[in-house]
Amino acid sequence: MKLSKGKFYITTPIYYPSDNLHIGHAYCTVASDSIARYKRAQGYDVMFLTGTDEHGQKIQRKAEAKGVTPQQYVDEIVSGIKDLWKLMDISYDRFIRTTDEQHVKAVQKIFNTLYEKGDIYKSEYEGWYCTPCESFWTPTQLKDGKCPDCGREVEMTKEESYFFRLSKYRDKIINLIENNPDFLQPASRQNEMLNNFLRPGLEDLCVSRTSFDWGIPVTFDPKHVVYVWLDALTNYITAMGAFSDDDSDFKKYWPCDVHIVGKEIVRFHSIIWPAMLMALDLPLPKQVFGHGWLKIGGDKMSKSKGNVVDPVVLVNNYGVDAVRYFLMREVPFGSDGDFTNEMLINRINADLANDLGNLLSRTVAMIEKYFGGELPEERETGEFDDDLIDLASHTAEKVEKLMDAFDFSNALAEIWKLISRANKYIDETMPWKLIKDESKKARLAAVLYNLAEVLRIVGELIRPVMPNTTPKIMEQLGCEEHGWDSAKEFGVLKNVKVKKGEALFPRIDVEKELARLEAAKPEPEKPAEEPIEKPEPKDEITIDDFGKLDLRVGTVLACEKIKKSSKLLKFQIDFGYEQRQIVSGIAKFYKPEDLIGKQVVAVVNLAPVKLCGEESNGMILSAAVNTANGEELSLIAPIALMRNGSEVR
Ligand code: MSP
Repeated sequence: MKLSKGKFYITTPIYYPSDNLHIGHAYCTVASDSIARYKRAQGYDVMFLTGTDEHGQKIQRKAEAKGVTPQQYVDEIVSGIKDLWKLMDISYDRFIRTTDEQHVKAVQKIFNTLYEKGDIYKSEYEGWYCTPCESFWTPTQLKDGKCPDCGREVEMTKEESYFFRLSKYRDKIINLIENNPDFLQPASRQNEMLNNFLRPGLEDLCVSRTSFDWGIPVTFDPKHVVYVWLDALTNYITAMGAFSDDDSDFKKYWPCDVHIVGKEIVRFHSIIWPAMLMALDLPLPKQVFGHGWLKIGGDKMSKSKGNVVDPVVLVNNYGVDAVRYFLMREVPFGSDGDFTNEMLINRINADLANDLGNLLSRTVAMIEKYFGGELPEERETGEFDDDLIDLASHTAEKVEKLMDAFDFSNALAEIWKLISRANKYIDETMPWKLIKDESKKARLAAVLYNLAEVLRIVGELIRPVMPNTTPKIMEQLGCEEHGWDSAKEFGVLKNVKVKKGEALFPRIDVEKELARLEAAKPEPEKPAEEPIEKPEPKDEITIDDFGKLDLRVGTVLACEKIKKSSKLLKFQIDFGYEQRQIVSGIAKFYKPEDLIGKQVVAVVNLAPVKLCGEESNGMILSAAVNTANGEELSLIAPIALMRNGSEVR
């Protein structure tokens, strides 16, 4: 029995139940899983937690749109999410649902404790709320009047609410981030939090809602439900039994070693969560790691854009380990990165089929061909051995350093350096020449042994990221698994008896495959059929008021993104009698090149304004609606082609 190196508690965010989690969600979970597997392989007693975040207005609205209860809605989706994690080989130890009774009770106790301590108090909330993000914003935090995280419309909310005294913890949190650089990683996220949120001043946080009821009721004031983020963040301790009858796991595993989260939710994890724990007098997590986003052609994935990549399709096409490898290899973990089918296929062909797959198949084939599958004990060292053995013996050390820093991409790159070195070693030692000389048999045996041993080491090192490939390599090498630490030693393999198997990763015909994928691309999702709620009536206007607007048809001559902004497009529009520049916040709905030549309708007598340093002389009109899936928007244009400058009346 190996002694445990101690405990290691790692969490993913708990996912909003959505019927199609995409490759971006899988990215976050695969990364966490790779760490969990790596730590287990090193001998840690690992607790790997994931789960689902099931309360809130967004879920309630989605359930209503489907005509089912919120509970029915989430139950069905959660089982789909569990299936996805099974497919992606996610080795979680515990799965928490925020609808679990233990969690619900614990959240109620936490809310009561904070209330009794005076850190939660009752007042009235009036402010902006982004339903898709379930976030409150102050007017200064809004960007162009919209949610600064997702760019969607926000809603003015006014209701009696409970507040958490977040402001009280501002200095402590600043101190925490400034003086414990490990707490928030990568380091770039520290300045983001300090400059964007903490230094400008923290306001108390509204932590209850009364306008909907799909949430955890406040026990002493049940018309209030607990704010979803307060509910959600506590999952990391309630899943361990905190505030329940059996809190032994909480005592064992808390504080958490690392919360892995995407960059847009770092704010909740590095400000609100530590403040809550401080208020509860509980230890803080050791680290929050905010990874970047996986994007499509520089865009965020979204159903309405029709650009979401389905991990199920990828896994069914290429196998789970190829997808896991790609996710962990392609993008440095703290940064944003792009996903394209072409990049995935190229990686599979180059790194997996060519480099790794060929090394294994050539080695095994040569051992079979030259020695009938069994390597003799008599071996003779020779030129090139030292270099290969030295690299093989030190790769594990380098991989450990990189994995400890969650630098998966470079950790895999180190392993692939060893694979490339071994492929080069074959060319250098030329076994096909050695076999021709009977006196070189012992030398040939040594060459093939060294290759088999490198493959064994590689097999051990890739296991956290590619758990299904390691057993296949070991099987072909006819060897037992020796565990992570054995990757630090060279010469572990004893009686080498190989067995040829299938190619680890078949080569893919890039062009054919890309054409096939293009043909199978999903259509962008049709606008949701939810009825639009009756709007608050606006003040009545007279025909004269309306007549003050000068609305004109124009044709887009040029359109480009404004570099400093992710939202704004700059248009040059031909109104027939003149051309003018208008800036419009619709960058996330249209690609500039798709709009050139299109007719639009604009208000042309609006006072000019400067947006991101660019003058805007008017406003282009669009139809827009907020749905549970986000904002939908379409530019307004005349049904028939009209002369530029035509009046809209
Ligand atoms: N429910 C909250 C988390 C509460 S944790 C106490 C939530 N859920 S989520 O389903 O929207 O997102 C879960 C995770 O997936 C987040 O870390 C998010 O950053 C990540 N990703 C979602 N899309 C992503 C990409 N396109 N790329 C990388 N990660 C992304 O937020």
